[in-house]
Amino acid sequence: MNEQTTATNTAQTVEAYSAPARFLHWLTVVLVAILIPVGLTMNYRGNTLNIWDDTTNQLYSWHKLIGFVLLWVILLRIAYRVFRGSPPPEPTLEPWQRMGSQVVHYAMYALLLLMPILGWVGVSLYPALDIFGWFSLPALTEPNQELANRVLGAHKALAFILLALIIGHVGMALFHHFGRKDNVLWRMLTSVGRR
Ligand code: HEM
Ligand code: HEM
Repeated sequence: MNEQTTATNTAQTVEAYSAPARFLHWLTVVLVAILIPVGLTMNYRGNTLNIWDDTTNQLYSWHKLIGFVLLWVILLRIAYRVFRGSPPPEPTLEPWQRMGSQVVHYAMYALLLLMPILGWVGVSLYPALDIFGWFSLPALTEPNQELANRVLGAHKALAFILLALIIGHVGMALFHHFGRKDNVLWRMLTSVGRR
């Protein structure tokens, strides 16, 4: 709970997320916002339309590269969260809302860690480790195509669960901001609560 900025307004004291926590949150958002549509498009072009041209291959390379970067961003983010903590819940939240948001946050952390690992294991098993013909990711296992299909199937299923959680999460953030008009979104955007 250290490293957080405190802002006081007439009604209550609101602790904002620290600058590094905010930076890592919005960096994750940008990377996931690229990964999911690129993942869906490359899979549709390749496996559904059976178009295996340069564009499809480049989409796969971008997906693997950005997913690999995200893995290290998430590890850093989780380490920061474990060692530096996070601000206490926004004071106007009901206990069930605090519990609900925590469950969703932990589930998203778990998926953001598991998904790139499964992707990396999947391309090691396939094997399809090459990125733009520039370099290859290190192989984590021996090739096994049948297992690769199962691992990448799990990767796909988790992608849809993550997407559902993100939709709920963003919906709640917007509801807090525009509906309840509290500080939930402000403290993830700025160092001081505004309301
Ligand atoms: C949090 C990070 C990641 C997210 C959110 C994500 C998301 C996705 C999505 C939405 C798809 C499309 C699913 C489908 O329609 O079949 C996909 C497919 C795929 N992802 Fe990821 N991905 C991530 C990380 C990675 C990483 C790090 C790798 C490999 C190094 C990877 C390799 C793949 C591959 C090979 C496919 C295609 C599977 C197929 O063709 O059946 N992903 N991913
Ligand atoms: C890829 C999409 C996103 C992911 C994976 C994600 C993930 C997370 C996670 C894991 C946390 C918990 C932070 C912590 O306490 O350690 C969080 C907090 C938060 N996120 Fe996101 N987020 C995403 C998109 C967004 C967007 C688009 C918004 C705004 C519209 C948003 C608003 C917030 C807010 C306001 C909090 C703080 C909630 C609180 O104070 O309890 N997030 N997010």
